[in-house]
Amino acid sequence: MGVSDCRIINLNKIADPRGNLTFIESNRHIPFEIKRVYYLYDVPGGETRGGHAHKDLQQFIVAMSGSFDVILDDGYVRKAVTLNRSYFGLYLPRMVWRELVNFSSGAVCMVLASDFYDENDYYRDYEEFVKIVRSLAV
Ligand code: TYD
Repeated sequence: MGVSDCRIINLNKIADPRGNLTFIESNRHIPFEIKRVYYLYDVPGGETRGGHAHKDLQQFIVAMSGSFDVILDDGYVRKAVTLNRSYFGLYLPRMVWRELVNFSSGAVCMVLASDFYDENDYYRDYEEFVKIVRSLAV
């Protein structure tokens, strides 16, 4: 899995003068069962979150408010994606290094995850991640 497998998924938006509504259903709008939701908020200007890859976890990231950039890296290709609307999100398969940067003030980053939290599923060292990805490709 790599950066080319990451993709923006557009969500349904029920536009209404009373306020808009968007919904996400497991295995229908995103390609996995949602087992966990977490969110980043009150991120100070200039801070970076993320900075890891997952061995198995799949995730779907939505900017519920404000904006931020997601830098994607699979050990070969590096690419930045801006998230700034609550009616689309970014799907991340396993084995993609990600960093979240350029948070606007008031930004809220919601992450839907395919499994419960497990520290053993993380690569937190970039050099180690790149080494493993490249060894797997050979
Ligand atoms: P971390 O993965 O470093 O956050 P991010 O990647 O978003 O910058 O997690 C920060 C801390 O929160 C770390 O001690 C692990 C803990 N944590 C949980 O307990 N459960 C979770 O679902 C997540 C995502 C993190």
